[in-house]
Amino acid sequence: MNKLLTNLMGWVDARFPATETYKYHMSEYYAPKNFNFWYFFGVLSMVVLVNQLLTGFWLTMMFSPTAEGAFDSIEYIMRDVEYGWLIRYMHSTGASAFFVVVYLHMFRGLLYGSYKKPRELVWIIGMGIYLCLMAEGFFGYLLPWGNMSYWGAQVILNLVGAIPVVGDSLVTWVRGDFLISGATLNRFFAIHVAVIPLVLCGLVFIHLVALHHVGSNNPDGVEIKKNKDANGKPLDGIPFHPYYTVHDLVGIVVFLAVFATVIFFFPDGGGYFLEKPNFEPANPLKTPAHIAPVWYYTPFYAILRAVPSKLGGVIAMGGAIAILFVLPWLDRSPVKSIRYKGWMSKVWLGIFAISFVGLGYLGAVPADSVKTIISRVLTILYFLFFLLMPFYTSIETCKRPPARVTGGAH
Ligand code: HEM
Repeated sequence: MNKLLTNLMGWVDARFPATETYKYHMSEYYAPKNFNFWYFFGVLSMVVLVNQLLTGFWLTMMFSPTAEGAFDSIEYIMRDVEYGWLIRYMHSTGASAFFVVVYLHMFRGLLYGSYKKPRELVWIIGMGIYLCLMAEGFFGYLLPWGNMSYWGAQVILNLVGAIPVVGDSLVTWVRGDFLISGATLNRFFAIHVAVIPLVLCGLVFIHLVALHHVGSNNPDGVEIKKNKDANGKPLDGIPFHPYYTVHDLVGIVVFLAVFATVIFFFPDGGGYFLEKPNFEPANPLKTPAHIAPVWYYTPFYAILRAVPSKLGGVIAMGGAIAILFVLPWLDRSPVKSIRYKGWMSKVWLGIFAISFVGLGYLGAVPADSVKTIISRVLTILYFLFFLLMPFYTSIETCKRPPARVTGGAH
């Protein structure tokens, strides 16, 4: 049996680099031995991606992408299809889970300077993934054809209309009609189930290719490739398989337990994962009392509302995302990890985290004059974190990072 397998692998390897690829990415990929809690969120993003793809394909089989049939087909899935409720909740709650793990994954990048040389491309590809995720969420949200789906899409499409000169024609082109209709729903469905998932999977693939080319960063920000043994293996690295495959399984099990608890007991996340007006069919004549996007967009929605002019708001919102792309060039610090950066970087990162969460809250609740002022202050702080970064990272005093990683495998 063993001989047969060896022969078979030999035959495959002579035609396709199967064993070589496995070694390069798994059994001989040396990852730093000091990964901590924050390093679970990359693999968890992959778990959620697979969950979204599988449950999404399943939903597609029963979903009707028409204005007449969409809402009813979701009700059919929820009530009549065997375990349809589970598949639907795994997908709708999975969308929120995706953003939870991806935001924590990105924050890890900020903590340990994972975007800095030589991982700029890993970060930029990650930002491409983030944009795709945001678009995927937006297009998917129209599909259940609930009242918030309709009005949420209305608000966002109106923003496109704020673009000077071409805005109006662009909205009509995207919508495929003069108002949001079955034609819009149908094309959003195509984009949601085919176009973006393909791009997303392609980007995740090159995200990992780029990462494995340069090697992983770690909580100390020490490049493990600088200290190798006589065989050329990093002294502070351990093979990804079996060490991190087993280690990651622990994180995956804990994550799945939390995920299952949410699906079984709080599938609508108290109105944050599935908003209440979406339990009614789309009604162009009935605007929901308070239109708010799903929680993962609310920091940017708060920035949009903080700016008095519509176009200005759209520019600020776009700028808040765009500035993340150039982060690798804003950070001038000689060290990567927050552990060894000076106090200014630490304070600013704290301010950034507070302003992001604060804006997230403010974007989810109805605006009033006090909240608008707070949103403006937090928006300014959000941007200052980035705009002042070249200054505070170059003038502050940093601690000298260790030559070798601290802490060991656990
Ligand atoms: C579908 C979404 C994503 C998936 C499946 C994914 C997957 C991964 C995986 C498996 C790793 C290696 C394990 C780890 O370091 O945690 C990783 C590393 C990394 N990812 Fe992502 N990622 C995603 C989104 C993003 C986003 C949105 C960003 C940032 C904008 C990003 C930036 C990074 C960086 C900088 C690293 C290197 C971290 C280090 O070595 O310290 N990723 N990603």
